[in-house]
Amino acid sequence: MNRRVSKAIFPVAGLGTRFLPATKSVPKEIMTLVDRPLIQYAIDEARAAGIEDFIFVTSRGKSALEDYFDLAPDLESALEQKGKTELLEILRSTNMDSGTIAYLRQHKALGLGHAVSCARKLIGDEPFAVILPDDVIAAEKPCLQQMVEAYQDTGGAMVAAMEVAPEQTSSYGVLDVADQNGAVTKVRGMVEKPAQGTAPSNLAVIGRYILTPQVLKNMDSIGRGAGGEIQLTDAIAQEITAGRDVFGYSFKGERYDCGSKAGFLQATVAFALARDDLRDDLAGFLADLHNGQQA
Ligand code: G1P
Repeated sequence: MNRRVSKAIFPVAGLGTRFLPATKSVPKEIMTLVDRPLIQYAIDEARAAGIEDFIFVTSRGKSALEDYFDLAPDLESALEQKGKTELLEILRSTNMDSGTIAYLRQHKALGLGHAVSCARKLIGDEPFAVILPDDVIAAEKPCLQQMVEAYQDTGGAMVAAMEVAPEQTSSYGVLDVADQNGAVTKVRGMVEKPAQGTAPSNLAVIGRYILTPQVLKNMDSIGRGAGGEIQLTDAIAQEITAGRDVFGYSFKGERYDCGSKAGFLQATVAFALARDDLRDDLAGFLADLHNGQQA
């Protein structure tokens, strides 16, 4: 199979209940880290990795996402008239070409595997990426780009991987490691959300995947898994059972779990501290706050 990865699926159908009441009317993916919506980080990362077709799997109440990716001609001309070229450039950098974005609805919340399989007809017969926008990864070379490069050598299916504390493995898909070669781990099994104390390793799946269409076909036979949901992890593990290669890729970068409030706040602070226009003020404020608490 050719190894060009030009399509990416963004599963964005989740209700975002952990961020209620904010997510009552605002999709979680539109919530901002500093001044960019979560989804923009995912799109930027995909673009850097050479993705050309963007497939969003959405659900009811997510139309703000579609509006976000539409052009804003009134806003653009207002900024133009006022000579606000810098803002105009920022705004235009978010524009997507017509025909490059597709929106599909997952009609029932049956799990991540099911959400991804909703895009089956648009994927056709080529490898594709999956990006979970909740996992925000700050990296010199964007995580998916690292993976696409490694994938040129490995083929197979590849998931981003990261060591987590043993008590956290039950929140993730976890890899059973066969063999490790630098950043690439050959996987001999995968378990979604293993019960405490039963995880095969501390190497957790993070929300970046490069998959083959076969993984989508596997979805028909796996049935419901952890939490009663159709799990992407199980469909990938099925590849191993069928004798095909699955790899974990230990990316370089800092991952923030923006599906949790603590992770979202950490990402907000880290991304703000990385910005020239905000660093000094915020660092001063945080130092004062810290000193005040210690006093
Ligand atoms: C999903 C996947 C899980 C993965 C995690 C990474 O779980 O099912 O395998 O480890 O994303 O963030 P969720 O966080 O949606 O429960």
